Amino acid sequence: MSLLAAVGLSQSFGGVTALEDVSVEAGPGELVGILGPNGSGKTTLVDALTGMLRPERGRIELGGVDVTARGAAGLARLGVARTFQTTRLMEPLTVGDNVLLGLHCAAVRRRRSRLQLVDAMLDALGIADLDGRVVRELSHGQRRRVELARALVGSPRALVLDEPTAGLFGPDAQAVAQLLAGVAESGVAMFMIEHDLGVVAEVCTRVVVLDRGLVVDQGPTRAVLAGDAVAAISGELGRDRFEAVSA
Ligand SMILES: Nc1ncnc2c1ncn2[C@@H]1O[C@H](COP(=O)(O)OP(=O)(O)OP(=O)(O)O)[C@@H](O)[C@H]1O
Ligand SMILES: [Mg+2]
Repeated sequence: MSLLAAVGLSQSFGGVTALEDVSVEAGPGELVGILGPNGSGKTTLVDALTGMLRPERGRIELGGVDVTARGAAGLARLGVARTFQTTRLMEPLTVGDNVLLGLHCAAVRRRRSRLQLVDAMLDALGIADLDGRVVRELSHGQRRRVELARALVGSPRALVLDEPTAGLFGPDAQAVAQLLAGVAESGVAMFMIEHDLGVVAEVCTRVVVLDRGLVVDQGPTRAVLAGDAVAAISGELGRDRFEAVSA
């Protein structure tokens, strides 16, 4: 059963086709990996799925309802959260206040309850010690976690993540990926752009492969990672696919 879906999306920018007749879906509990070389349309797909881009053709469905016209704020209110390829945080605010913004649309009204949720989320992401720090002083990896905390704190129904482990190294990337797998297992429908095939192999339930705006493969993780489409683009993803497939 699909919770968040794109149906027949097409989008071009000037002469460039960013997406062409793209259909993808994620059901509750699914973590769908989005793979593709640079410029293949991954971020454009994420922008459309979260209402930040109104596609030229096609529609976005949430729980089977057409929500294409709702826009980013409307989808956020309906429980669709996201993170960005380059983190977008309120630089002069503290970590705690940035995460609090993630509760903007939440039903929780009492300030004390909100602060408790923020504290719990900072704990879960291992950044409780950063609570009072101003975001502009943080490292890249710390910012990634703050943005994830902001996306997760409102208990979204669907989560769309643009390269959540980019710039994190080894154990840090693994830890975030495992956390995301746990979030999906709790019943959230998730899409995640991810270049590291090892991470994809470990946590994604299904995978979509984009190339030049087209879905060139889509299916269960093992089958897609072992398939021709991933073989064709693996050089551009920068990781050894065979390591991931045999892991
Ligand atoms: N706002 C825009 N204006 C013009 N062209 C755009 C715009 N957004 C995306 N594009 C173009 O659309 C194509 C797809 O871009 P997109 O950012 O979706 O790719 P991507 O797969 O996320 O790439 P990357 O791996 O580099 O993040 C690219 O050719 C890009 O230059
Ligand atoms: Mg991108």
